[in-house]
Amino acid sequence: MATRKILTEGNPTLNKLCRPVTAFDDHLATLIDDMKQTMVQANGVGLAAPQVGVLRRVVVVDLGDEIIELVNPRILEQEGEQDGLEGCLSVPERYGLVKRPNRVKVEAQDRHGEWYEYEGEGLIARCFCHELEHLDGHLYTERAYRMLTDEEYQELMRQNEEEE
Ligand code: NI
Repeated sequence: MATRKILTEGNPTLNKLCRPVTAFDDHLATLIDDMKQTMVQANGVGLAAPQVGVLRRVVVVDLGDEIIELVNPRILEQEGEQDGLEGCLSVPERYGLVKRPNRVKVEAQDRHGEWYEYEGEGLIARCFCHELEHLDGHLYTERAYRMLTDEEYQELMRQNEEEE
């Protein structure tokens, strides 16, 4: 396993459409393992393949007790609405307010090509929506109705430090 470099906003790779995965081979397994390690090391809750420069439809999401891998994911159902703060490893030191569905059901394949469904609420639903948009070349900053100011960001960081 290796940690990969995370591309940041402005890199054109982040704005490209990712192709479906067709080969469920060692190459894919290595990519997924590297993405998991890269996400954990960067303290992220989700990571999409284009963020490490690979234009394939692969996402990893940290559910807290486990990290799931979503290959060729798509949203089957969504319901409700939530409104909250969102950040992205490719957009460092910024946060924005984004409205998302509150519950999302996705289907995806695992590294062996087996299809499964997963339902997430709250932060997990937000994460699924955010990561899947990366696969279509979109960043949450396009969708945010307001980005935090530098002062608001600093205040948020101070609060987080106090909580730790
Ligand atoms: Ni992101």
